[in-house]
Amino acid sequence: MLKKNSSIKLIKYYNFINYNLIYNNKSINRYKKDNYGLSEDKTKNLESLKKSIINLKNCNLKKTAKNVVFCDGNPKSRIMLIGEAPGANEDEEGLPFVGRAGILLDKMLASISLDRKKVYISNIVNYRPPENRRPTDEEIKRYLPFITKHIEIINPKILVLLGSTAMNALIGKDIVISKMRGKWIEKKFGNCKTFVLITFHPAFLMRQPAQKKLSWIDLKMIRDKKSKLNI
Ligand code: URA
Repeated sequence: MLKKNSSIKLIKYYNFINYNLIYNNKSINRYKKDNYGLSEDKTKNLESLKKSIINLKNCNLKKTAKNVVFCDGNPKSRIMLIGEAPGANEDEEGLPFVGRAGILLDKMLASISLDRKKVYISNIVNYRPPENRRPTDEEIKRYLPFITKHIEIINPKILVLLGSTAMNALIGKDIVISKMRGKWIEKKFGNCKTFVLITFHPAFLMRQPAQKKLSWIDLKMIRDKKSKLNI
């Protein structure tokens, strides 16, 4: 017989290793789709935007990519995060930030009591560039109207741009992330007026872990703004 203390420890351990995920033989659905009680209008607008992206012609990325990567998270959230482009795992699953950078992103969110059910996530480009190269200027230009429309539909109060590709695409070409990160910028995207924060991309932080201390400053800024805006 296990003593009470050992049983508690064992339960804690099973929760820690996410016992259900490991031993449950049902298929894994980590990012279970949820409608979040979304209005008909927003649902239609998002579906129609996704269709326009899927129907887009003259895009080389589509020749090599397996799936469109449109979004993850809560479309009702007032916090939207935008990365660069899908990688191999994202292409496989059709969801943004599910690879190693995604794991770090989840940890970053958790550090300020957020998770994917509380934010909305997308990318500048919706198809994986071959060999995970950066999207070219031409590719970014092609997808820019879509991500701008995406922001307008989601209408976030806080927009977090992860890395320089998202920053250069949406804020300006001649700026550098080392100077721009960690500052709130008010910006309009169509009818959406939002507070933008530029911060480091999680993939960059994996290569340059020393920069995590600056990233933590940015995360705390998001946490404070969220509370100030009553989100
Ligand atoms: N990097 C990104 O910028 N986006 C993803 O979805 C995954 C990795």
